[in-house]
Amino acid sequence: MRVLIIGSGGREHALSWKVARSGKAEKIYCAPGNGGTAQEGENIPLKDSDVAGLVSFAKGNVIDFVIPGPELPLTLGVVDAMTQAGIRCFGPSQWCAQLEGSKAFAKDIMQKAGVPTAACGVFTELEAAKSFVEEKGAPIVIKADGLAAGKGVVVAQTKEEALEALDQIMGGVFGAAGSRVVIEEFLVGEEVSLLAFCDGKTALPLPSAQDHKAVFDGDTGPNTGGMGAYSPAPIVPDAELEKMADIAIRPILAEMARQGHPFTGILYAGLMMTKDGPKVLEYNVRFGDPECEPLLMRLESDLLEIMDACIDGRLDEVKLSIRPESALGVVIAAEGYPGSYPKGMEIKGIDAVDALPDTKVFQAGTKREGSRTLSSGGRVLCVTALGKGLAEAQKRAYEAVAKIDMEKSQHRSDIGAKGLRRL
Ligand code: AMP
Ligand code: GLY
Repeated sequence: MRVLIIGSGGREHALSWKVARSGKAEKIYCAPGNGGTAQEGENIPLKDSDVAGLVSFAKGNVIDFVIPGPELPLTLGVVDAMTQAGIRCFGPSQWCAQLEGSKAFAKDIMQKAGVPTAACGVFTELEAAKSFVEEKGAPIVIKADGLAAGKGVVVAQTKEEALEALDQIMGGVFGAAGSRVVIEEFLVGEEVSLLAFCDGKTALPLPSAQDHKAVFDGDTGPNTGGMGAYSPAPIVPDAELEKMADIAIRPILAEMARQGHPFTGILYAGLMMTKDGPKVLEYNVRFGDPECEPLLMRLESDLLEIMDACIDGRLDEVKLSIRPESALGVVIAAEGYPGSYPKGMEIKGIDAVDALPDTKVFQAGTKREGSRTLSSGGRVLCVTALGKGLAEAQKRAYEAVAKIDMEKSQHRSDIGAKGLRRL
């Protein structure tokens, strides 16, 4: 198969690395890709948001199979557009992608499907939103309805903070994404990511994973796209996966099918394990980044075969084969991220790490310049390793991180620590 992967992060490098290991892949393109995807195939200078350009490239280059990585092309309808052009594309339709594209939409589906989630109110008028905050008090959570690159959620500890967040979000800092807000009950608990392959009716959960959203050790500092992840997360052991999928994934599939829009692709539930049981904080309609990197290192099955089965509605015939080891990925970011950061730093040591067994550097914000690899984004690498158990995976990943040389970089030194405390 001739495969086109859309996106440019560590997730897309992991997807192209895994697809390259499928017996079915003939040629891999990545748009726009990065320094890592360039090693697995050919990068194409098209933005992930350029749906028309991507469809025309796919048609012109006889692409058989398209895998969009990020949410933006999915919410822009890339699956519908590719499908109309007769090209197989793994992911949800534009209608189904609203699960991630609109928090109010997701809340409505959750309520109809009977999925446990935080109590909430949805508002389009600033004054009504403010009265709701005055009535409920703090702590309280304010969320911009639309996509805001992970920055549209404010966990307000005081009423004043909540009111200020409303002024900002509804005042236009996120444009149309903030014209509607969801105001939510504050929940306490450990977060975990549950991802499942879906074919419209059947869901096959992957093992649990845990992200580390805050930039600094001990979950302090501002939220980022994710500073590291590992799988499995002891808070949801393999023995509980089916039960979790019954709570957080399968009711959504049933509700979407009932509304005439079966969900195909990856459904990712961001769960908070509260003392009253699991509650869904959000849905994503794609692989998480960085969760994708450790998850795909553990996945033994042929990724293209699973994705094919999802599109054809044959997932009930598939059994996932997962390596028993734990996997852990540490993100190396540019200093200053998630604020402003320098670019163009040379990165050394990638080949040395890739030469180690069961260890892989997934590249995110990188580009090749001649024989050199330079940084070009905030999150630069996700250094990922397998190990017998979480402690060994953590040790092996950090040994690999020590071999990477990049000026003006930062990484967390406690990826996996929360999981280890549970063992
Ligand atoms: P979301 O994009 O909805 O997952 O929110 C981003 C982050 O905000 C989550 O990963 C949580 O850390 C936090 N968060 C979201 N909703 C809540 C909630 N209801 N209670 C406490 N924290 C929350
Ligand atoms: N790692 C969280 C996300 O991809 O949204």
